[in-house]
Parts: sequence; structure tokens; C-alpha cells
Amino acid sequence: MNVVVTGGNRGIGLAVCAELARQGHRVVVVARDAVKGEQAVRSLPGEAVLVQGDLSTVAGTRELADRLGAACPEIDVLVHNAGLWPSRRVLTADGLEEAFAVNHLAPFTLNRLLEGRLRRVVQVSAGLYVKGRADPGRTPYGLDFHPLRTYADTKLCNVAVLPIFAERWRARGLTIDAVHPGVINTGLGDRKGPVGLLLKAAKRFWKTPAQGAAPVVALTTAQTTGRYYDELTEIPMSVDHELGAQLWEQAEKLSGIA
Ligand SMILES: NC(=O)c1ccc[n+]([C@@H]2O[C@H](COP(=O)([O-])OP(=O)(O)OC[C@H]3O[C@@H](n4cnc5c(N)ncnc54)[C@H](OP(=O)(O)O)[C@@H]3O)[C@@H](O)[C@H]2O)c1
Repeated sequence: MNVVVTGGNRGIGLAVCAELARQGHRVVVVARDAVKGEQAVRSLPGEAVLVQGDLSTVAGTRELADRLGAACPEIDVLVHNAGLWPSRRVLTADGLEEAFAVNHLAPFTLNRLLEGRLRRVVQVSAGLYVKGRADPGRTPYGLDFHPLRTYADTKLCNVAVLPIFAERWRARGLTIDAVHPGVINTGLGDRKGPVGLLLKAAKRFWKTPAQGAAPVVALTTAQTTGRYYDELTEIPMSVDHELGAQLWEQAEKLSGIA
């Protein structure tokens, strides 16, 4: 298979790339930093290439879609893994809150731009999405920014549009599922100060990136669509369909796809 993994240069993404390469698949590592991306590619135990791309802006995401199209006319699986847990409100060049842009708008945009060449999408989600209270009028701009809750809000946005993708693609056999990888010791949410030190101490007891990668890799070959998995166990998705429809329409406008 040709498998594209965003945020493939470190953490869970790198471990997903390593396992897929070990299984003999051709891996396309998406990384925003070319040097770190090349380093990751060199570390992989099989066929792998780098496609550089920054997911924080619509223009960067569109350029990435073009590059992916050139590198891979057919994509068997697209794994949306890149993500961030922001500690402060940062606005992108588009005036959007950075985690909203990377965690939600970028996967939406790639799905829409690449849907003609995709067979399956695996969305790396987070169980914390159930704590999200996304507000389409405020969350995209970070007007309701909170260092703990914004991550959950953006992950909720991302999961809320998943059933719409599943329905849109059902007739063509293109599938999409989301997976919570577990609580994994990576750089996610790292910060300075006392909270950062506490987090660092706690992370030593969390699972390894390879353990986080296992359910993601398992889902690359699943036959389901529109489902949510907590690691390997399917659980009902808890989303408000009206919110999903609102976010879908908004993402079409923000990404220029409308
Ligand atoms: N770790 C956990 O416990 C946990 C739990 C639930 C869900 N998740 C999800 O798992 C996924 C992977 O997280 P992780 O724990 O492996 O985190 P991580 O170690 O912090 O890795 C995040 C990856 O996302 C990339 N990324 C961030 N912003 C980007 C941008 N603007 N453009 C392109 N790439 C960007 C990073 O690239 P750089 O190296 O350039 O920064 C890095 O490759 C995320 O979606 C996260 O929400 C993780």
C-alpha cells in the first residue's frame, strides 16, 4: 500500500511510519521541517519518501495536497496524525487559532482536495474530544481559547465532520474512521514552567509511541467507515450532527472549497 502519514517525523506518527515500512508498505512521510523529515525517512526500515508541508495555513495545506498528488497518484491510506496541544493562543497567517487550523481545518481540506485519489482515511483523534465545547463563532479564532480545553474543542470539530465524510464517500467505497491512540509519551503539549515539569514527570509512566502506533496501524486495513475506536475497541461516537453540519459549511468557506 501507499500510505501517507502527516506529522510523520516524530512521536506516534514516526512510530506509525516505522511499523508500516517494516510491514513492506511504501510510506510517504509528511513533515513541515524538511531536515527533520529527511532524518525520519532515513531512520525507517523500508521504502519511504518525504513530502514537505505545513498544515497551519490553508495555502500550505493546498500546496501539500498538490505535492502529494504529484508524489502519489493513488493514496491507499491517508493517516491524519499531525496535531498540537496549544498552551497559548497563536493565530496563523489566516487569522485562525493554530490548533483549530492543524487539528481540524487541515485534515478537512486535505480530504476534500485529495478525495479523488484516496481509498481510506484514518483520523488520529483524542478521547478528550468528548470534553470539547466547540463554538463555530469563537473557536476558529481562539476567542474562547483555554490552554486545556482548546485541544479538546478542536478535536471535537474534527470528529464532528467525520460522519459527513463517511456518508459522502460511502457509495464510492472510500472509508474513514477515527482512533484514539491511548495516552502516549510524546512531545504533545510540552510546555515550560512548573506545569511542564509535572507533565514531563507524569509522561514517564505513559505508553510508548510504538504502543500508540499499534491501533492506528491496525485501522489502516479495517473495512469499516464512520466509526470511532478507543485504541482497538469500537465505541459509539458522541457528536452533535447539527454542530457537524455547521462546521462542515464553515470549513468549506475557510478552506476556499465552497
Ligand atoms: N500523545 C498522546 O497521548 C495522544 C493522545 C491522544 C491523541 N493524540 C494525537 O496523536 C497525534 C500525534 O501526536 P503525538 O502525541 O505524536 O504528538 P507530537 O509528538 O507532538 O507530534 C506531533 C506531530 O505533528 C506535527 N505538526 C504539528 N504542527 C504541524 C503543522 N503546522 N504542520 C505539519 N505538521 C505539524 C509535528 O511536527 P513538528 O515536529 O514539526 O512539530 C509532529 O510531527 C495528534 O493528532 C494527537 O492529538 C496523542
